[in-house]
Amino acid sequence: MSMAGTPSTTVNARLPTLRARPSRHAVVAGLERRRVIENPDRRSFGAQVGGGDCLQAGLASAANLVPSAGIPQDMDNRTMPPAHGEINHVSDTALMAAACRALETESDDGFVHDPFAARLAGERGLAILRALPHPDFMRFGLGARSRFLDELLQEALASERILTVLSVGCGLDTRPWRLELPPELRWIEVDFPGILDYKDGLMAGEPPRCLRERLSADLNDREQRLAMYRAAGRAPVLMITEGLLMYLPAATIEALAVEACQEGSVAHWIADVTTSAFTKAIGGTDAMRSFQRVQASDCLAGEQILDVVRRNGWVTTARRSYITDMAFARPRIERMMAGRPRPEPPPIAPDDPTGVHRFVRK
Ligand SMILES: C[S@@+](CC[C@H](N)C(=O)[O-])C[C@H]1O[C@@H](n2cnc3c(N)ncnc32)[C@H](O)[C@@H]1O
Repeated sequence: MSMAGTPSTTVNARLPTLRARPSRHAVVAGLERRRVIENPDRRSFGAQVGGGDCLQAGLASAANLVPSAGIPQDMDNRTMPPAHGEINHVSDTALMAAACRALETESDDGFVHDPFAARLAGERGLAILRALPHPDFMRFGLGARSRFLDELLQEALASERILTVLSVGCGLDTRPWRLELPPELRWIEVDFPGILDYKDGLMAGEPPRCLRERLSADLNDREQRLAMYRAAGRAPVLMITEGLLMYLPAATIEALAVEACQEGSVAHWIADVTTSAFTKAIGGTDAMRSFQRVQASDCLAGEQILDVVRRNGWVTTARRSYITDMAFARPRIERMMAGRPRPEPPPIAPDDPTGVHRFVRK
């Protein structure tokens, strides 16, 4: 559910695995279209759905839920051997997230529709996903996360004065291209330069639906974070940190929570939270180990991240819970469990905060 910082200052050099090879024409077209800001550059997941359903049995048969059909073979990240499923850099997790969205998109009962995800994930993204202990589990969770985040974002844009979205650790997210957005909305995508270049290469021919910009930054560097707040400006900002915080050092999470409104104009913050209790209850602990090598040595668990956020004055104003808001997934769960015995729901406290939150400052 949570996706997999690394002490990222040292690993950025290893990013060439993310090389894209766009046509020159495509790159030029894309550059004309976007404003570029460059700064230095055991149970199962769905248990308790609707009060007692469980996915475990469905997950057991899940190998068939991760088909290869539909993912283009002619991918630009083919500098890696096709079956290379290792996660070597934290940006590799963005490929994996895109692979989840690609498979969701081609499935009739997928939770998110992202027509660009297959292109962006490529063979390597799919290989990374397949190499995880429970790829189906990851895909289901990431699909739900994307859907919840889409909903909370659209609600906030409809009801609040938000002029700029700051998508921090944007990876291969394609909301500026796939969502109906106010054309005058500024949308700043922030990530390491390698993953941004890779994405721009593959998205160059696609017109965004808002004023999409990009900013290369290592979030662990204060000067680069300050450049990010300056780029966002003084108008009301909504910050998204989707699938990011679990990788970062504790000090960076603390800094984001403090600086977002002191140094920047972030009034709304959408982030996903997955508690250790939830991960354990759904049998996802081994899957999360796959990401350890690209997590900071002092990364925080979901409940600790929430403590940091709350201690710095942020309160949840809207939320989607992976435990109580999953009714939409019932038909899919029923299909996955067809003919299998239903295990007991896992022991998750009903008030577990796992899910996607929109925070505002008190
Ligand atoms: C799991 S991916 C999530 C991507 C995207 N938000 C999504 O949900 O698909 C995590 C992203 O955070 C970025 N990231 C991690 N640590 C970072 C850092 N210190 N500075 C900038 N970006 C970072 C990675 O490069 C990667 O793109």
